[in-house]
Amino acid sequence: MPEAGLAEAFGVTEEARAKINLALHVTGQRADGYHLLDMLVTFADCGDRLGFLPAQVDAFTLSGRFGEMLAGEGGTNLVLRARDLLREQFGALAFPVHIHLQKNLPVASGIGGGSADAAATLRGLMRLWGMSLPVEALASLALKLGADVPMCLESRPLIARGIGEEIEAVADLPAFAMVLANPLKGVATPEVFRRLTTKNNAALSLATGVSGSAGWLAVIDAARNDLEPPARQLVPEIAVISEMLQTRGALLTRMSGSGATCFGIFANMAEAQEAAAALHGERPDWYFQATETVSGGM
Ligand code: C5P
Repeated sequence: MPEAGLAEAFGVTEEARAKINLALHVTGQRADGYHLLDMLVTFADCGDRLGFLPAQVDAFTLSGRFGEMLAGEGGTNLVLRARDLLREQFGALAFPVHIHLQKNLPVASGIGGGSADAAATLRGLMRLWGMSLPVEALASLALKLGADVPMCLESRPLIARGIGEEIEAVADLPAFAMVLANPLKGVATPEVFRRLTTKNNAALSLATGVSGSAGWLAVIDAARNDLEPPARQLVPEIAVISEMLQTRGALLTRMSGSGATCFGIFANMAEAQEAAAALHGERPDWYFQATETVSGGM
């Protein structure tokens, strides 16, 4: 469904922006098995889109390049879990709703598509139902849906610690011109974590007074994604796609989340778009998307 179509057909629409881990350090592990992380995160201006409409009975429909991949899931989609969890808070006032998900982001790809969809569902349904929750209550509800859902509620540059729930905004992070690249091989996050050999790595080092694109680029360059080596074992194409981004002029490439999506940062959007088009020509069966990330001062 085109963008205008979604807005026309559904009174309430929400963006579910792709989440980009500019850095992801694994600094420890909790007793329950979850890993302690130190992450620098930003959000892209591309993503899934959701529409919400009052209905006689609950309904859930899908469209978009990757919509079909979710069709067989039944009630397990995070969107429906988010709806049900929020409804528990509001009871009978939470009337039936038709939710439409335009799935533009690849599934299980390390850019938080499912988490962003869940966060967008919480935001959209609160608007549709005309209700709200205190910020803290909403954040803890989000955390029940997944470690990345609280940060997706923010959808702005941030540092996240703990398992992702300790969030601090980064107001001076600039926008970056990026290409997102994915070989369309889904990655099971728990399997990537299981393959980690070192779990007590150095925390993210953020000197004070970093400024401008060049300053932040140097910070990101000096940081890591600790999940990249184990993800590369599972999906060798990650090394290939990272190399392809570099060959097309990326100033820096890195994997996001538990993969397999990699991003390349480019000097400007014109170069990013040119690179994405060339990469698409090389591998039309893979996913390449030029995008500008949001800036902290948005
Ligand atoms: O919270 P979420 O459902 O997104 O996490 C998926 C899986 O990833 C968890 O079941 C866990 O195995 C792993 N994980 C982890 N440490 C984190 C986040 C996720 O070990 N901080």
